[in-house]
Amino acid sequence: MTTVVNYAHRGASGNYPENTMIAFEQAITLGATGIETDVQMTKDGRLVLIHDEKLRRTTGVNALVAETLADEVLQLDAGSWFSPEFKDARIPTLEQLLELAKRTHTIVNIELKNGIVEYPGLERKVIETVQSYRMSDQVIISSFNHYSLIECNRIAPEIPTGILYMEGLYRPWKYAKSVGASALHASRYAVLPEWVAEAAQHDVIYNVFTVNDPAEMKRLMQAGVAGIITDYPERLAAILRGQ
Ligand code: G3P
Ligand code: CA
Repeated sequence: MTTVVNYAHRGASGNYPENTMIAFEQAITLGATGIETDVQMTKDGRLVLIHDEKLRRTTGVNALVAETLADEVLQLDAGSWFSPEFKDARIPTLEQLLELAKRTHTIVNIELKNGIVEYPGLERKVIETVQSYRMSDQVIISSFNHYSLIECNRIAPEIPTGILYMEGLYRPWKYAKSVGASALHASRYAVLPEWVAEAAQHDVIYNVFTVNDPAEMKRLMQAGVAGIITDYPERLAAILRGQ
């Protein structure tokens, strides 16, 4: 078994409010070696980390991120929905996460959430932010919007990209190559060991989401995936420690 990158999905989101600094910090404490996060853009162009296009589910405010100014987005309570003890948690900026990751040598998987809402210039903005921290070799950009990944690869071919998909791709590695991506960010329903091996022969890696069952983590490691994206990084960390 090879080792894998232990990506905490939206941080340690099984036990902490997703996409908040406490979820990211705790993930690293629990043994994550990577953080997966979702980026959206405010009305005035700030890059903020929140999964949904709308603020409602995690803050209670019935508005789109894209129609709200950063000053308001950044002061919202993004923790109480999960548990009252997290009432002080806020929606972070991409910069806040990159600072933490740089300090702790953690890989960051930035998912561009531009499938439903269009964010003109999102790719360039994310890339310039990553470059300003000199973290091109510590980041992988993924998206379900594959046009967007082509744009990322055009702007910054040195930053790796990953094709997000649920299922149904024929010869996924070939498709990844056609987009210029070096990784397949596959749903756990879309992984067969022989495909992982075939992709590896063509230098395309698999990072698989969202895997919370330790037995499935072990199977995927045996299949040779490069990364596992989980809500419970402590479970994967325990496997990697041989417990
Ligand atoms: O990046 C893997 C996974 O996060 C994609 O789905 O909906 O959790 O953003 P979602
Ligand atoms: Ca995501």
